Amino acid sequence: MKHTFPGTLACERAWVNIDLKALANNVREIKQQLLPQTALMAVVKADGYGHGAVTVSQTALNNGATWLGVATIVEGIELRKADIQAPILVLGATHTVQEIEAIVRWQLEPTLCSPEQALTFSRHLHHPLPVHLKIDTGMSRLGPIWQQGATFIEFVARLPQLTIASIYSHLATADDPDPSFMQQQQTRLQDVLSRIQAQDIPLPKLHLANSAGTLSGPQFHYDLVRVGLALYGLYPAPQFQKTVQLQPVMQVKARITQIKTLPAGTGVSYNHTYTTDHPLTVAVVAIGYADGVPRALSNQMNVIIRGRLAPQIGAITMDQLMVNVSAFPNLQVGEVVTILGQDGEATITVEAWAKALDTISYEIVCGFKHRLPRILVNSDIPHRL
Ligand SMILES: Cc1ncc(COP(=O)(O)O)c(C=O)c1O
Repeated sequence: MKHTFPGTLACERAWVNIDLKALANNVREIKQQLLPQTALMAVVKADGYGHGAVTVSQTALNNGATWLGVATIVEGIELRKADIQAPILVLGATHTVQEIEAIVRWQLEPTLCSPEQALTFSRHLHHPLPVHLKIDTGMSRLGPIWQQGATFIEFVARLPQLTIASIYSHLATADDPDPSFMQQQQTRLQDVLSRIQAQDIPLPKLHLANSAGTLSGPQFHYDLVRVGLALYGLYPAPQFQKTVQLQPVMQVKARITQIKTLPAGTGVSYNHTYTTDHPLTVAVVAIGYADGVPRALSNQMNVIIRGRLAPQIGAITMDQLMVNVSAFPNLQVGEVVTILGQDGEATITVEAWAKALDTISYEIVCGFKHRLPRILVNSDIPHRL
């Protein structure tokens, strides 16, 4: 059986496919949920949640997003170096003079989250800079707590060189089927806004929603939504599956590098956490925990071979894992195994891994390391990142 994958080298042991058509579909689906006046920010921090920040940004901007969100200045610079011109909000905190200089030089827009930080910015700027003020309405992360929100905004409004481009907050529980705390956060934000309006401070743009907030309805959208997870075709919680049709963007593949038969009673991999109880054909697959396959899934996961599930056995090692392939006659070294994604009738989802590991999809996709090349599929010209 011949397996050819556009863009992969025959010698590639394992890789991540990034489906640009699925990504474009997701961006358009999300955009359709928004009123025309609401802008879409593609959140591309952590290398686009492991999908490749530059490619994700370009595709998102070509399909309806107009803003980009990153966590760090370095992430923003990567996008500027790729000639991306869209406004970029740095969602994380930045404090030092060097950071301020980099923000100005690379035309990034910072988040301000304390009076001290705002003062440092104001003192070191020679020209007006758009800044975004973060208010903590219940996440207990960046920003002054909401009771101090109006005082903070009034303070920044009086500082030279700072142009308040937006006021924003972040939802802590938007994926919870019970919307009451999300609504409480919204009420707190509204309260901050009424107080600043009473002080005659002009209202800048406003934003609150992440993916889950965005899919919860237009009452949370305001001027802009900051969407990460949903872009990548992953649902923040099962209740959103009826709201929007998303397609997973990432698939993970690896090659079989050896096939052999083990006699009954043979221990497999470190510490022999699996022992054969009858003769077994085992395939060694060239991907491991150093690539992003969590070791905690040892003896708990399947892979897909020729459209059918096959159980992984023994401890997952740093670069390789073993699979029971007794039910697959005539397998060849070099054949491609699906670690995550779909092949024929079989599918292994990021969500299923997250559930098995008692974690969230975010951690799974961010976990695939750069040792795995990202291969663009369903793009005009298939190529490597
Ligand atoms: C401030 C902020 N806004 C938006 C997002 C996007 O969240 P999601 O990936 O749930 O859409 C994040 C991601 O954690 C964030 O930190």
